[in-house]
Amino acid sequence: MKILVTGGTGYIGSHTTLALLEAGFEVVVLDNLCNSSDAALHAVEAICGKSALMIHGDVCDRPLLDRIFQQHSIDAVLHFAGLKAVGESVRKPLEYYESNVCGSITLCQAMAAAGVFRLVFSSSATVYGAPEQMPIREDFPTGTPTNPYGQSKLIIENVLRDLCAAEPKWSIALLRYFNPIGAHASGHMGEDPSGIPNNLVPYISQVAVGSLHELSIFGDDYPTVDGTGVRDYIHVVDLADGHLKALQSISTRSGINVWNLGTGDGYSVLQVVRAFEQASGRSVPYRVMPRRSGDVAECWADSSKAQKELGWKATRSLQEMMTDTWRWQSNHPRGYQG
Ligand code: NAD
Ligand code: UD1
Repeated sequence: MKILVTGGTGYIGSHTTLALLEAGFEVVVLDNLCNSSDAALHAVEAICGKSALMIHGDVCDRPLLDRIFQQHSIDAVLHFAGLKAVGESVRKPLEYYESNVCGSITLCQAMAAAGVFRLVFSSSATVYGAPEQMPIREDFPTGTPTNPYGQSKLIIENVLRDLCAAEPKWSIALLRYFNPIGAHASGHMGEDPSGIPNNLVPYISQVAVGSLHELSIFGDDYPTVDGTGVRDYIHVVDLADGHLKALQSISTRSGINVWNLGTGDGYSVLQVVRAFEQASGRSVPYRVMPRRSGDVAECWADSSKAQKELGWKATRSLQEMMTDTWRWQSNHPRGYQG
C-alpha cells in the first residue's frame, strides 16, 4: 500500500513515516519544509534502510496535489502538514487559517478528484477547550479554542464531518493528540523546534543541554497535585503506532471516527522536571512565573476508546520519554543541524 504523508519531515510525521516504512508501506512525503528539513528523512533511511519519496511543496498547491495523485497510486493520506505555534497563530491568523484550513480543504478536493477517500487527520486535545471533568472522553463537547491555531483544528474537524455526512465513500480518522514528546530510541530522530521552544519538554531539554538558561514554570497555584499544570504526555513513537492502527481501522470503516491518543495519565510540570533530571543527570534550574494565558489547570485523556476500537495503547512510560528525549538532545544539541 502507498501512503501520502503530508508534513512527513516534521516531528510526528517523520516518526510515523519510519513506522510506516518498517511496517512495509510505501511512503510519499509532501512537505514545504517551513518548519523542518529533509534531514529527518535521511535519519529515517539510516535507521530502517528504506526511504520515502520526498516531494517539496505545499498542501495548498492543487495542481501539485493533482500531479502527485496522478503519478502515484495512493491508497490513503496521513495529513500532518500545518502550522502549530499557538502564540504565532495569534499574530498571524491568516497564515494559520490558510495553511491549516485551506490546505486541508485543497487536499480533500484533490483526494476526491483522484478517488482516494481514506484520511487520517492530526487534531488536538485543544478542541476540548477547558472541560469540567477529567479524564476527557471523545464524546465530551468541543470547547471554544482561545487562539487561531485551536480554531483551525476545530474548523477542519467540522469540515471533515460535513464531508463524511455528504459523501459516504469517505472514511476519516480524527486523532486528537494530547502532549506528544520524546524521540526515537536510536537518538537520531527527535523534535527540532525552530527558535525558542514554546512547549515544556523541548524547553527543559534545551536548558539541560545548556542552550537556555532556566525554565519558567507558568503558575504554581493551580488546583493540582503540586500547583503546577498537569498534562497527558505521550511518547511520539506510541503516537506513530496509533496512526498505523487508525489507518488499518479506517480501511474497514466508513464515515468519521474520533480517537483520543493519550496515555490516560497526567503529570505536573514539576513531576516532568524531576523525571527529566533523573533521566539526564543534569539539574534543570527553574523560576515560577505567572500563569500563561489560555492554559488550563489539567488535561488528560480517557484513551479506552482507542484501546477498544483500534487495539492501541500507549506503552512507554514518562521515564522512557525523558530518557529518549535526552538521548536525542545530547547527541544533537542543535537538532538536525548537529
Ligand atoms: P511539525 O511542525 O514538526 O510538522 C509539521 C510539518 O508540516 C512540518 O514539516 C512543516 O514544514 C510542514 N508544513 C507546514 N505547513 C505546510 C504546508 N502548507 N504545506 C506542506 N507542508 C507544510 O509539527 P508536528 O509536531 O509534527 O505536528 C504535526 C501535526 O500534528 C500538525 O498538524 C499539528 O498541528 C498536530 N499536532 C501537534 C501537536 C504537538 O504537540 N506536536 C499536538 C497536537 C496536534
Ligand atoms: C500546547 C498548546 C496546545 C497544543 C499542545 C500540544 C499552548 C497554550 N497550548 O499545550 O494548543 O495542542 O501544546 O502541542 O501553547 N509550561 C511551563 N513552562 C514552559 C512551557 C510550558 O511551565 O516554558 C507548562 C504549561 O503551563 C503547561 C505544561 O507546561 O502546564 C505543558 O505546556 P505545553 O508543553 O506548552 O503544552 P500545552 O500547554 O498542554
